[in-house]
Amino acid sequence: MKQHTQQELWEEARVFIQQCYAELGRTDIEIEARLDDIKHDIQETGTYVHTKTELIHGAKMAWRNSNRCIGRLFWENLHVIDARHVDNAEEAKATLFDHIEYATNGGKIRTTITVFPPRRHEHVPLQIWNHQLIRYAGYEAGNDIIGDPASVEFTKQCEAYGWKGQGGPFDVLPLVLQESGGAPQLFDIPSRLILEVPIVHPEIRGFAELGLKWYAVPMISDMRLEIGGIDYPTAPFNGWYMGTEIGARNFADVNRYNVLPKVAELMGLNTRSARSLWQDRALVELNAAVLHSYHEAGVTIVDHHTAAKQFNSFEKIEAANDRLVTGNWTWLIPPVSPATTHMFHKPYANKVVKPNYFYQDKPWE
Ligand code: ARG
Repeated sequence: MKQHTQQELWEEARVFIQQCYAELGRTDIEIEARLDDIKHDIQETGTYVHTKTELIHGAKMAWRNSNRCIGRLFWENLHVIDARHVDNAEEAKATLFDHIEYATNGGKIRTTITVFPPRRHEHVPLQIWNHQLIRYAGYEAGNDIIGDPASVEFTKQCEAYGWKGQGGPFDVLPLVLQESGGAPQLFDIPSRLILEVPIVHPEIRGFAELGLKWYAVPMISDMRLEIGGIDYPTAPFNGWYMGTEIGARNFADVNRYNVLPKVAELMGLNTRSARSLWQDRALVELNAAVLHSYHEAGVTIVDHHTAAKQFNSFEKIEAANDRLVTGNWTWLIPPVSPATTHMFHKPYANKVVKPNYFYQDKPWE
């Protein structure tokens, strides 16, 4: 990744501080004083250190600017854990266990981010290799895949470092943490920290026998948070699920768990004719099952109609605050019944505004 020059860093810092402090109601004098300090620090040390307030508000702004996210109405509620002092794997493991427990909250999910030390030049003090903190393994078995096909590559990495899974469809992968320049270290997540939901259907008999389940909290752990020119390559964050992420993608995609044919069979649908709309009918019931199951289990989840309404409120609030809502239409529309949501019927400017969360290269590549 290309590093910022001192001049670029200063520019990014200036723009961020001005917006952040204005949003927080700080005076011009306070802004000037802080910018003087930052300029001085960049000249002396090549970088600067965010105050807690800057880190907290910056992480929230980054969520607000996330073009693919339909859940942005709640950006101000993000709980920010400052772990910038944590640079060893053992301590990081404990910090991540705390994140999982706090965010899961027995099912009443709390949106949370834990921010580990920033990058300094090429040097990343602590790196997480996992895509999400909790994720199911995927194993190649001849021409088949057992578990989550999306995890096959990472599962191989874990195995290369000595991990051995049960070989089942829902084996939770270990945390893989790497100190700067060191070998990755693996840590199993205690099962008491892993909340999961068995998927049942309110009417269709035999649905539970499909043996489907999913974990409660999606905690993305492989994105880089950028605030005011400072890179935080390790900053795992979570919201809660929108049902379609599980019911229309994780379970339904042909290159994921691919269960639509099984659901259709259970429903007695004619899978030989595309015109029977067996895929669509199975998809709706699978999604109904996911929403029903999470609700019954007391685990926070949102359906795509409610999420769209919430996004509409977000758009109104942003307009009232004279901020442009940027968005990636292809991600904002839900994969089920997209035209029932207002987003389907209007364009969004897919412009990248910072602070924001970015993809980054896999550490093992
Ligand atoms: N789509 C991803 C998954 O199914 C999770 C992405 C983040 N989702 C969220 N609701 N915050 O695991």
